[in-house]
Amino acid sequence: MKILMVASEAVPFAKTGGLADVVGALPRFLAELGHDVRVVMPRYTKVLLRENGIKFEKVVPLLGVPMGIMGELWCSVWESQLPESEVPIYFIEFEQYYGRNRIYTDARGEGFLDNDNRFVFLSRAAMQLAKALHFKPDILHANDWHTAAVPVFLNTLYRNDPVFKDAASVLTLHNLQHQGVYYRGLMDVLGVGWQHFNYLELEYHRTVNLLKGGLYHATLLNTVSAGYADEIQTPAFGYGLEGVIRDRADDLRGILNGIDYDLWNPETDPLLAANYSHLALQGKAVCKQALQVEMGLPVRDVPVFGLVSRFVNQKGIDVLAGIIDRLLEMDIQIVMLGSGEWWAHVFFPEVRERHPKQFACQLGYNDELVHRIEAGADFFLMPSRFEPCGLNQLYSLRYGALPIVHAVGGLDDTVENYDDRGGSGTGFKFWGLTRTSLYDTIGWATYTWYNRPEHVEAMIRRGMQQRFTWNDSALGYEKLYEDALARRRG
Ligand code: ADP
Ligand code: GLC
Repeated sequence: MKILMVASEAVPFAKTGGLADVVGALPRFLAELGHDVRVVMPRYTKVLLRENGIKFEKVVPLLGVPMGIMGELWCSVWESQLPESEVPIYFIEFEQYYGRNRIYTDARGEGFLDNDNRFVFLSRAAMQLAKALHFKPDILHANDWHTAAVPVFLNTLYRNDPVFKDAASVLTLHNLQHQGVYYRGLMDVLGVGWQHFNYLELEYHRTVNLLKGGLYHATLLNTVSAGYADEIQTPAFGYGLEGVIRDRADDLRGILNGIDYDLWNPETDPLLAANYSHLALQGKAVCKQALQVEMGLPVRDVPVFGLVSRFVNQKGIDVLAGIIDRLLEMDIQIVMLGSGEWWAHVFFPEVRERHPKQFACQLGYNDELVHRIEAGADFFLMPSRFEPCGLNQLYSLRYGALPIVHAVGGLDDTVENYDDRGGSGTGFKFWGLTRTSLYDTIGWATYTWYNRPEHVEAMIRRGMQQRFTWNDSALGYEKLYEDALARRRG
C-alpha cells in the first residue's frame, strides 16, 4: 500500500511527547512489511537537517496551498529520510508559521494564537504535496487534531481528484483532551463550505472543532490502546466528544504502541554506568548508585522512585505534589525529570530545598537522563489521570523499574498488578486517582521492597522479558489500512 502519514512531530526532528516517538518509528516498521510509507511534517526552526548529517534536498521549490479567504500561500518542501530507513519524510517549509523555536507554545507555555491556521495549513499542504509528487496514496493517515482536517479535505475538496480517487483515510487519536477548538471563522480558511458547519461534522457549540470533523470524516479510527478506545466513549474520558465517538464505535480500534527494543536495551545501552539483563541484574545496582550521584542524593540502599513526564494535568503531577512531603517521611528517594506548567517549576525546587537527601528534580528535557532514571530506579511513577498508551511504563518494564500506575488506558493494558500472595505481576496499580490511593500504593510498593525482596526481584525479571514491539503494532495498522481501503472501495 501507499501510505501518506501526516503529523505535527516526529523523532528525531521535533518532539514534545509520545506522538513523535510513534511517527518516528511506525513508518519504518510498515516499510519493513513492504509498504511505501511517506511522512509529512512542518520544518520548524529546530529541524536542522544539515547538522543532523542526514541527506536532504529541496524537492518542491514552490507549493501552492489554498487557504480559503486567505488566498493561496506558497511554501517549499524538503525531503529527507527517517534515520536507519529508506522512509522519505517531507518537511513543509513556511517560515511565517513554522520558523519558531517551539512547536505549539511560546516560551511561557501559551499556545500560539495562529495554531489553527498553522495546522490547517499543514493538513492542506500534505494534500497538495501528494498531487505535486504524483503520489497516489491508498491511505492518508492523520494523527490528533493537528492533522484531523486531512480526512475532511479528502471527503470534500479532493473527493473527485484523480490523485485521491481510491484513497481512504485513518485518524489516530493519541489524546482526546486537545481537539483544535477555534472561532468559527476558521470555516472560511478551511474553505470546505459552511454546509459542513453542522452538529455532526465541524460545529461544536458554535465553534469549529477540527478533531470532531476528523472523527466524522475518517474512513476508520483508532486509538493507541484497547483500554483507551473503550474509555473515550464515556464522559469521564471523552472530553465532550464521547457521543461522537460512540456513533462510530464500530469503526474504532485500539492498537497499542510499541517501543524500539534496540534503543531501549539495558544489555547494550551505552548511556548507562553498567549494563544488565534479566539473568544478571548486578549492573542495575551500579546504575542506581550512579543515578544517586548524578542527582546529588546520598548513595544509600533505599527504594528509589523515578518519574519522567510532561508536568501537566494529564499526568497527575498535582496529586503527587499534594502528598510529596508525607511520602518523604518514608525512607525512600524520589527522582523527577520534566517540565510543563509554571507552578511545578516553582514547587518542586522547593521540595528539593526541604528534602535535599531524599528528593531531586531536573527541570527540562533530557533524552539521555531518561535512560539513566529507568535503569537506576526501583520503581517508576505514572499517576496519569488518563493515558492513551504511555511509553514510559514500557521503558520501565524493560529496565526493571517496576511501574506504579493509575489503572487507565494503556497503563492498565500493559501492567499486571502485583499479587502479594503468590508474588505474580509486573507492577503496582490503583483504581481511582486520589492522594490517598497514590500514597497507599507507593506505601505498598515500599513495604514490598523492604519486606518481600524476592517478590520484587521476580517481578523485575518478569517485566524485563515482556515485549511490546513495533512489529506487532505495524501488523495492526496494516490490517486497519486494508479494512479502510476495502470500506472505501465498497
Ligand atoms: P505523552 O506523549 O503524553 O507525553 P508518552 O508516555 O507517550 O506520553 O511519551 C512521552 C515521551 O516523551 C517518552 O518518550 C518520554 O520518555 C519522553 N519525555 C517526556 N518528558 C521528557 C523529558 N523531560 N525529557 C526527556 N524525555 C521526556
Ligand atoms: C499521547 C498520549 C500518550 C501516548 C502518545 C503516543 O501523547 O498522551 O499516552 O503514548 O500520545 O501515542
